[in-house]
Amino acid sequence: MLDKRVKPSFIVKYLDQYVIGQDEAKKILAVAVYSHYKKIAKSQKDAIEIAKSNVLLIGPSGTGKTLLCETLSRVISVPFVTADATSLAQTRYVNEEIEAILRRLVDKADGSVTRAQHGIVFIDEIDKLKSADGQSRSTSGESVQHALLKIMEGSPVKLATDQYIDTTNILFICGGAFVGLDSIMAKSHGYGFISTSGGDDQSILDRLNTRVKPTDLFTFGLIPEFTGRLPIIAKFQDLTRQMLVRIMVEPRNCIYNQFREIFRTEGVELSIGQKVFEQIAELAFEYKTGARSLRGIFEEMITPILYTVPDSADVRTVEINSLFTDPVFTRAQPGIGIDEPK
Ligand SMILES: Nc1ncnc2c1ncn2[C@@H]1O[C@H](COP(=O)(O)OP(=O)(O)O)[C@@H](O)[C@H]1O
Ligand SMILES: [Mg+2]
Repeated sequence: MLDKRVKPSFIVKYLDQYVIGQDEAKKILAVAVYSHYKKIAKSQKDAIEIAKSNVLLIGPSGTGKTLLCETLSRVISVPFVTADATSLAQTRYVNEEIEAILRRLVDKADGSVTRAQHGIVFIDEIDKLKSADGQSRSTSGESVQHALLKIMEGSPVKLATDQYIDTTNILFICGGAFVGLDSIMAKSHGYGFISTSGGDDQSILDRLNTRVKPTDLFTFGLIPEFTGRLPIIAKFQDLTRQMLVRIMVEPRNCIYNQFREIFRTEGVELSIGQKVFEQIAELAFEYKTGARSLRGIFEEMITPILYTVPDSADVRTVEINSLFTDPVFTRAQPGIGIDEPK
């Protein structure tokens, strides 16, 4: 099912090209995917039931949860679809919506139900399904949790094409920001592991104590059966200013490279100083939306330049040294470097 080269470290290396930081989440996800397919192979060989370990990604908005899953879907060769829990919570036809997700998975598998049965479904914004008091049960997030629980546990689902898809071996990855979970954890983690001998590694104790417990998710509003189906939890960290800078300049398809390409098609070399990225990161950091606001700030800076450049055939380089000073243009000398008019 997985390509032979696809080891956990291979997956992480690929993710590293697009996603900055979140090293722990990358590893957890890579190992979860890898062992999922190992388990399936083993169960097919020995004809035994496997216990599936679906994954829950928790972390602040704009820190790369969706990006990580989308990137993951490109590196592994199994059918992969993304769905949004918010729309599941808003529809009266949850089962139809779920059926549609599975049908998309079959489409991704070129129509092969067998292949789709080993696919991955990523359900984003899962925290939007928290049970809210005072809502009628049929439309509450809780009833969606029950519907999802059924397919996560594994059941045959009838598709509109009259075929049945068995969801037993489909891996489910759920993601959400879980705003407010931190304060729930702060309360429940009053008692945790404490060092009892000098030999205990404090960093291991700390890690155990920052683990999200199923009871925390329960308090948040996920039903116990649902959290029970998500035994693997990966936490995403807040992005630092330094990471925000790296996001703009390091990934293969980072915003800086994208705009350098656009300027190149105009015959212009764009160069932006490190300080500018630090200034943008500082603003984005204040907005507290993770990396989400980087693009907006960047484009606001670049738009007036991209407005004038196509009209000026003699511009050769544009240099931006600060958000708060004008960009520096260098132009071709008349007769040098410009194509002679025909
Ligand atoms: N760790 C990261 N590395 C690189 N880009 C990131 C990272 N986190 C966020 N981004 C950028 O911010 C955008 C929004 O991130 P997203 O993955 O949708 O966040 P969320 O955690 O809310 O799902 C992404 O499209 C990407 O451009
Ligand atoms: Mg997201």
